[in-house]
Amino acid sequence: MWLLRFSTSSIGKKILMASSGLLLILFLVAHAAGNAAIFFGSNAFQTYADTLHSLPVVVFVFGVGLFAVLIVHIFIGIQLFLQNRKETASRYAVSTKVCENTLASSTMPYTGLLLLLFLLVHVFGFGVNPTDTKVSVLVVNLLGNFFYGLFYLFSFCVLAVHLSHGFWSMLQTFGFNHPRYNDGIMKITYIVPGFFLVFFGAITLYFMTGLGANY
Ligand code: HEM
Repeated sequence: MWLLRFSTSSIGKKILMASSGLLLILFLVAHAAGNAAIFFGSNAFQTYADTLHSLPVVVFVFGVGLFAVLIVHIFIGIQLFLQNRKETASRYAVSTKVCENTLASSTMPYTGLLLLLFLLVHVFGFGVNPTDTKVSVLVVNLLGNFFYGLFYLFSFCVLAVHLSHGFWSMLQTFGFNHPRYNDGIMKITYIVPGFFLVFFGAITLYFMTGLGANY
């Protein structure tokens, strides 16, 4: 079957990795846009959360889709990492890398693993809510906790490192590689992760410092 042949070929794996990465980045953009409501007060944030929950089918389909994309990203990511390691170990391997093997690129599976841990803590913290506490209150309770907040800030730094290589790699796979534009492309690969670090970090610091206690 062509789909199986495609997903097991080297180029197929790279395209699947880049496409799933792009979808995860688009999720982050949407999530950041939704969470921006926090800065307009607890009523605005609660209204946003209630609107989401009033569309259970959309939330369910979106959640399942996101989960499937994440699984593809992790599964292919592990395969590509093992494949690269095997090639690097081979004395006769010819390096096809366009960039230096930076700290971000060589730590992708580890930063990915840390992000998975963050996701588990985050989704269980916010998504599983047996006491039915309002989500606008939950955010103050959880992020107002110094150590919880610190773990979030650490995870956002890890996310920025993971994205700095992931975003660059995705652009390479999609063919954005031209000597005339490479400087600009390089800048974007810092701006995008930097934006998420500052944005999500600002929300966390807002509650950690107590500034958002009565938002
Ligand atoms: C301070 C920053 C963040 C805040 C305040 C926040 C807040 C939330 C809240 C309130 C929910 C539950 C939504 C609901 O069911 O009502 C949620 C879900 C989620 N968040 Fe975040 N989030 C943050 C950062 C992140 C980051 C950086 C990621 C990914 C790396 C992420 C991934 C997710 C995922 C996957 C879900 C579950 C989505 C679903 O149910 O479909 N969040 N977040």
